[in-house]
Amino acid sequence: MQVTSFPETIMTKHNNINFDKLPEEVKNYIHHLEQVRSDFVANVSHELRTPLTVISGYLETLLKNNHPEKEMLNKIFMQMYQHSLRMADIIEDLLLLAHLESEDHPIDEKSDIFVKNILQALCVDAKNISGDKKHKIRLHADKRLLIRGSESELRSLFSNLIVNAIKYTPRGGNIDIKWSQDQQGHGCFSVIDTGIGIASEHLPRITERFYQVDTARSWERGGTGLGLAIVKHVLLRHDATLQIESEVDKGSKFTCIFPAFRMTFR
Ligand SMILES: Nc1ncnc2c1ncn2[C@@H]1O[C@H](COP(=O)(O)OP(=O)(O)O)[C@@H](O)[C@H]1O
Ligand SMILES: [Mg+2]
Repeated sequence: MQVTSFPETIMTKHNNINFDKLPEEVKNYIHHLEQVRSDFVANVSHELRTPLTVISGYLETLLKNNHPEKEMLNKIFMQMYQHSLRMADIIEDLLLLAHLESEDHPIDEKSDIFVKNILQALCVDAKNISGDKKHKIRLHADKRLLIRGSESELRSLFSNLIVNAIKYTPRGGNIDIKWSQDQQGHGCFSVIDTGIGIASEHLPRITERFYQVDTARSWERGGTGLGLAIVKHVLLRHDATLQIESEVDKGSKFTCIFPAFRMTFR
């Protein structure tokens, strides 16, 4: 692993640590963190630069062209608007991720959240997003099953998985959203689609920040590559786990399993 720059002395809040005297595995771990940090900065810069380049390119065209035709203007404004929305999405997701990853932000918990109500509202949004792709979106949720957790974080988790199912399922496909309790008392939330699926070699890395199977295709569909990283962190903050089953060209099933101690059955 190559590290281009690294301080010999690591300054911490309380003392100076001589890097050379640290055990080899600690040094390796610090190098690894440094690599993750620099990859992250490179990814963020790249993701933001792309839409910005498009916007500045169009502005340059407008500055050079004194009397652009109305049709051309409409096209340019629409493109600039879409790219600015994309930048806003990336920044919003990054801020949310930073919040979720920070130990300074404990989870803002509320007991007895009505999951079915949240899912019903998200299904209305989902039908709007699906639009003329006319997916069959079905909700099977047990209204008596309530959860303790952060309502806004859970909404974001559910929404990310549902929107992914819509984005990665061709016209007319099925999307089933389920919320129920299993025999051990766990809360199980799953989204099952008949979409493009994910090849098994991608699954180990799929929840990494900015990881996308097909960047061009995800771009077209308006993805930031941060959704599943957000999902992972919300689950970690709720002591929950994620299972992914997927087959290329057949579909995917994402299941979130919440611990029994967070559940109430009424
Ligand atoms: N339901 C799904 N079906 C097929 N591929 C999916 C699905 N959900 C996620 N993916 C793949 O995982 C990648 C990461 O998902 P995500 O973090 O939500 O990013 P994106 O913003 O691209 O949707 C996506 O780019 C896509 O390749
Ligand atoms: Mg997504």
